[in-house]
Amino acid sequence: MFVNFRRIHKCKCLQLLTTGLVLCMVMVCWEEADHHVVRHIRSYTYRYLINRYEFLNSSFIITSKHPHSKSSSTNVFGWLWDYSYLINHPQKCGGRDGDKSWDDVFLLLFVKSSPENFEQRQAIRDTWGNESFLWSELGANVRLLFALGMHPDVRQRSRVQAALLQEDKVYGDLIQQNFEDSFHNLTAKLILQYHWGHNYCPQAHFFMSADDDVFIHMPNLLKYLRQLESGQSGAKDLWVGHVYRGAPPVRRMKSKYYIPYDLYPWYSYPDYTAGAGYVVSRDVVAKIYHATLVTNSSIYIDDVFMGICAKTMGVYPQEHLYFSGEGKAPYHPCIYEHMITSHGHAADVRTLWHTATDPTITSNYRGYMGNLYCTAVRVMMLCLPYYQNTYSCMAAFT
Ligand SMILES: *[C@@H]1O[C@H](CO)[C@@H](O)[C@H](O)[C@H]1NC(C)=O
Ligand SMILES: *[C@@H]1O[C@H](CO)[C@@H](O)[C@H](O)[C@H]1NC(C)=O
Ligand SMILES: *[C@@H]1O[C@H](CO)[C@@H](O)[C@H](O)[C@H]1NC(C)=O
Ligand SMILES: *[C@@H]1O[C@H](CO)[C@@H](O)[C@H](O)[C@H]1NC(C)=O
Repeated sequence: MFVNFRRIHKCKCLQLLTTGLVLCMVMVCWEEADHHVVRHIRSYTYRYLINRYEFLNSSFIITSKHPHSKSSSTNVFGWLWDYSYLINHPQKCGGRDGDKSWDDVFLLLFVKSSPENFEQRQAIRDTWGNESFLWSELGANVRLLFALGMHPDVRQRSRVQAALLQEDKVYGDLIQQNFEDSFHNLTAKLILQYHWGHNYCPQAHFFMSADDDVFIHMPNLLKYLRQLESGQSGAKDLWVGHVYRGAPPVRRMKSKYYIPYDLYPWYSYPDYTAGAGYVVSRDVVAKIYHATLVTNSSIYIDDVFMGICAKTMGVYPQEHLYFSGEGKAPYHPCIYEHMITSHGHAADVRTLWHTATDPTITSNYRGYMGNLYCTAVRVMMLCLPYYQNTYSCMAAFT
């Protein structure tokens, strides 16, 4: 018996060893082959078995105090957070005359926009970003702001800037800094949002960052955030959205998300949420703000930069099935019932807002039969492979 057991044990050991060896071979030999599957196997192995991302602190945190950096805002390293404001509204979260309750901001909503996206901004103001609607109909004190840089084309800049100033005169909701508004400056835009939030609106209970081609189902979002806040643990250490775990850096040079090895030599990024739309709690805003002061911001994918900042501060993203990543949610009342964000909208924002928030539409699907029907519909829409999915199949069963 004893001998037998030992033999099995030995066999198992051998098996494990071979598996390990094969895995190592795969990782080493296929280093150059930037194959999708290999990349993911490698990044998941890295994320779940090998690494705790301890290298982030030593590689991204800049600790050396420059002799001249007396104040925290001097530009000794040429850091991104030194851009100055071209348009600002420091009072945006302050009180309206005589109305104290207006100071108590529930949600600070930052939309990442670009100078020329006037139409998108207008659609948001008229629909899910309508502050007075959210206040009068849903009782929520929300502040909407758009984060912008300068128009990237120097020849058009002054014309576009004049239009922006005009727009801001009417709506008073643009926050602009003097960096070039380009894909590779998105990290600067992220830093703008956290610095503004920390400096001018630290009292806001929640902070949300979203793209300007996103649809946000505000009634559902506010209901969810209120539930969180009234829950036992309250809303602390919250970072919620569509989570990417163990995502591998893209090494194809042609890709928009290409990251060279010198910028990030490791196999996977720390976990992060899709930048299309996510929410953090007040304490996390302060933590990320402090992280941005000492973190090397040369990683130009803003979501990844956020992941690095959060990881070094011990903040972890949590998944919500109805925050979308890349895709657009299917149009159906059974989806509207739960949806929080959906990506890739432009002309349809207005109709979507009207149908998705019309209480008479979803009320047709209540009760046992209604639930059964809706689950079936959601399975059809979210779980079958030939649909372009937004939410995971699991969302069908909530
Ligand atoms: C990184 O440093 C922060 C403090 O700056 C610390 O709280 C955190 O635990 C460190 N993380 C790792 C992975 O060592
Ligand atoms: C915003 O909401 C208010 C209050 O419900 C409403 O009167 C106003 O028409 C809305 N604005 C737009 C542009 O729809
Ligand atoms: C970011 O903005 C700065 C300031 O306008 C500019 O010098 C730089 O070229 C921009 N970077 C990219 C990658 O567009
Ligand atoms: C930030 O990282 C980049 C790329 O790794 C490096 O070239 C640069 O020197 C770093 N900046 C600081 C201030 O450490």
